[in-house]
Amino acid sequence: MRSVIDILDLTAGEIDALMQTACDIIAHPRDYEQVCAGKKLATLFFEPSTRTRLSFEAAMYELGGHVLSVAGGSNSSAAKGESVADTVRTVSCYADIIAMRHHKEGAALVAAQHALIPVINGGDGGHCHPTQTLADLLTIQREKGGFSGLTVGLCGDLKFGRTVHSLINALSRYEGIRFILISPEELKLPSYVKKDVLVNKGIPYEQTTDLTAVMPSLDILYMTRVQRERFFNEEDYLRLKDSYILTPKKMRGAKQDMCVLHPLPRVNEISVAVDDDPRACYFKQVANGKYMRMALILMLLKEAGTI
Ligand code: NCD
Repeated sequence: MRSVIDILDLTAGEIDALMQTACDIIAHPRDYEQVCAGKKLATLFFEPSTRTRLSFEAAMYELGGHVLSVAGGSNSSAAKGESVADTVRTVSCYADIIAMRHHKEGAALVAAQHALIPVINGGDGGHCHPTQTLADLLTIQREKGGFSGLTVGLCGDLKFGRTVHSLINALSRYEGIRFILISPEELKLPSYVKKDVLVNKGIPYEQTTDLTAVMPSLDILYMTRVQRERFFNEEDYLRLKDSYILTPKKMRGAKQDMCVLHPLPRVNEISVAVDDDPRACYFKQVANGKYMRMALILMLLKEAGTI
């Protein structure tokens, strides 16, 4: 049974096809209204979420399907001590596909090993978040026309930010990509991403603490929230939370066609005064996420022979 746990579970060709499907859905939504009629998506979210869970659910509704939902582990048998393996075996009896978010790294992989239906990882701890990357990629594709040759700045919590880890993995497959990693010392990219992906593949990157200095060279600026829930102590969080705040003044140093992305939710990292700047693409990114999740659900249900 094919699941998507890591962005590298999809080939670059498959991601291309998903982007094409998403664009076709955007252009012809009515053609897709009934394609999943009678099918059910279960959303199992053991961590807070607004966009990821609702966009999966909206995606399934717009494909004509239904949604079963567990939001908040405290409402499910997980609170009684049930294992992820048993939960997904159970859900396999009720639904055709699962989207799951869990606070533990690797939980989605365990789920995929035990489920009888496809599992999509909606975020596992500080590890990865492949469907956010699909939203990011479609946004970059639509704004910049492709990925090759881009200089991508990733700013904020690169240590715990799972969206950053998945995005680096995905973009590393394109020609001429260069990364600028902007973070406080304590929140630098983990070595399993830096060594295994960037160094191993010989991808140019630079590490800095200074956002303003690198602004003029960026084609994409990917801002992230400092991940409070992954910190061991509140003092460290309070000290680091406002390390970077993107303001209209900082935007003056950027290219005219730079594109600002953020997986959201934002706390303080982007001043609301930046929202009206045409280079601010984070709300377009939200919309793109729903279409990519529609395309992914379709692909996995087709492969499983469910539709
Ligand atoms: C991200 C996540 O959950 O990792 N949010 C999302 O899914 N759009 C980013 C975050 O929570 O900071």
